Amino acid sequence: MRPSDIRKVCVLGAGTMGAGIAQRAAQSGYQVTLRDIEDRFVQGGLDNIRKTLEEGVRRKKVTQEQSETILGAIHGTTDMAEAVEGAQLVIEAIFEDMDIKRQVFEELDKLCPPETILVSNTSSLSVTEMAKITSRGPNFAGLHYFYPAAINRLLEVIAGDETSEDTMDLLMDLGRIMGKVPIRCKDSPGFIVNRYFVPYLNEACRLVDEKVANIPEVEAAACEAFGIGMGPFALMNATGIPIAYHSQCSLHDALGEAYAPSPLLKAQFEKEEKWDLEGDVDPAAKEVASKRLLGVEFAVASQLIEEGVCTTEDADLGATIGLRWANGPFVMMNQIGTKEARYLVGAWIQTLPETARFPMPRPLEELAAGDANWSVSTVVTETEGPVAILRVSRPAALNALNTDVLEDLGEALEAVEADPSLRVAIITGEGNAFVAGADIKEMVTKTPLEARAFTQLGHRVFRRIEEMDTIVIAAINGYALGGGMEMALACDIILASEKARVGLPEVGLGIHPGFGGTQRLPRLVGRWKAKELILTAQQLSAKEAKAIGLLNEVYPSDMLMEKAKAMAHRIAGMGPVAIKLAKHAVNRGVEIDLDTALNYEVESVSLCFASEDRVEGLQAFIDRRKPEFKGR
Ligand code: CAA
Repeated sequence: MRPSDIRKVCVLGAGTMGAGIAQRAAQSGYQVTLRDIEDRFVQGGLDNIRKTLEEGVRRKKVTQEQSETILGAIHGTTDMAEAVEGAQLVIEAIFEDMDIKRQVFEELDKLCPPETILVSNTSSLSVTEMAKITSRGPNFAGLHYFYPAAINRLLEVIAGDETSEDTMDLLMDLGRIMGKVPIRCKDSPGFIVNRYFVPYLNEACRLVDEKVANIPEVEAAACEAFGIGMGPFALMNATGIPIAYHSQCSLHDALGEAYAPSPLLKAQFEKEEKWDLEGDVDPAAKEVASKRLLGVEFAVASQLIEEGVCTTEDADLGATIGLRWANGPFVMMNQIGTKEARYLVGAWIQTLPETARFPMPRPLEELAAGDANWSVSTVVTETEGPVAILRVSRPAALNALNTDVLEDLGEALEAVEADPSLRVAIITGEGNAFVAGADIKEMVTKTPLEARAFTQLGHRVFRRIEEMDTIVIAAINGYALGGGMEMALACDIILASEKARVGLPEVGLGIHPGFGGTQRLPRLVGRWKAKELILTAQQLSAKEAKAIGLLNEVYPSDMLMEKAKAMAHRIAGMGPVAIKLAKHAVNRGVEIDLDTALNYEVESVSLCFASEDRVEGLQAFIDRRKPEFKGR
């Protein structure tokens, strides 16, 4: 099933989570049924959605018209058969109770055709176990929406033991279409974020319980170490101590004594009181608390990698998008050095009762021994046969290009080029943006010499896009501003979603485009139009950009990646030698006079005729068969 095959989504359970999920799905253009067992629950869910949308209209996040369209797309019902009728995706969002979920999935399994994807929204139950209730392991998966589901951008997509890769890919794509930043994980206690976040809350309580630090010292330590505005105790006061306690108990049950809840957390839960945040801060105690909090964080994050639950990139996205930490645990470990991280983990393990201690996670041990860093790329590559998808993934900063991103992109392009099986690459952005430009926060302190080196780095990477044999398609999924638009201008084909906005806003910042914008744009749209766009810093919608020849095609946002992939696969099916020579012939030809360019074409075609591919391609036409190109 492709994302565009999904037209109707059924959400079971009209509580806070279910209503939020239904709203998000309707907001993303799907027909939605929201089902609960009693009409008053259904109406309650619909009322909540209505109120959220009214608030959205008041805060100008949605228009009145959009709000009405969203509400009109959601149909409430108590009838299960009616709810699932015609739905390609069913999301169960009822209580976290295995027995109730069992009844629901048994019923769903009978009612839904085998191809319907069944999903449980869960923060703690085993997806593999739930899948076994049904007869559709490959088409069954877990989703973990974070509160509030309509707004929080993080989404964990959980593979049960039998979930197929196709189902996982589909749910990741759907998550993105619904405006989420999806992270992929194996079915494992606490999945990704709760696995390291809940023990961090618990550790805060242990520190106070053991009189290592008081509450304000732990708060200050956490805010400083993790770059956050609210420490663990303030957060528990806001979100509820019971949820922290119960979540830690679940981890304890599943993972053993190292995860035992702090007696202080248990006592506070039983007292039903909030934490008192008042008190003085002793810098020395704060320092010790900081090391302990980092120690537990690094220990658990390293375990996730050792157990193969997720990638370092997804674990870090969980922290930066879901928890709004300045950095995820792996980037933090790299920043302080893996040797120091290993020391902090070792010291934290020693604070556990002897019977609860566990060995140093092996991946961290090995990295620290070699004084090496975790591999955490800001450009994530997936492959689909001969097509590579390069996703710039720094969504908390709208994928802004800092030195790391440019270097990671350079390495990702190099890896694609070095792999002869890959013929086409698609560059896109994680989250709502393609790339919102060069990183303004990094640039603000740059000296002219540093700016020069940064600009040259950008030039080198974007030039590689033009000069590599692989065909590169830009799939602009949102903002492509400044360096983001300049990156797209270096690609061979530019596709965009209706939501895309492109422009070169640099002069408004007192600088001018520096990643090729002053040079490639005039070559594309002519010097007068280019100057108009650069000097006025005007942003264009995707349709306006297409009208002036700035991009090839515009698609509805839920179709962009499907269309980009279809085009990539079509190109990948052509003669490999021919497509790369054609790319270079066009790129060279537009830079030089026509006679020289035509001579270039002569040489290029001659080279093409020297390839086995042209023998195969021409002969296949005569034989009326599909050619089998070898790329030589
Ligand atoms: N650099 C660094 N951080 C950026 C960024 C950039 N270019 N663009 C966005 N961000 C960050 C924001 O600071 C914000 O971070 P915090 O949450 O930590 O505050 C986060 O991304 C989300 O951004 P906004 O809250 O601003 O999101 P919005 O939806 O309200 O606005 C936007 C979106 C209109 C794109 C706005 O972010 C914006 O104007 N960004 C700057 C665009 C720009 O001027 N780009 C050109 C950069 S210069 C350049 O590219 C030079 C060159 O040629 C090489």
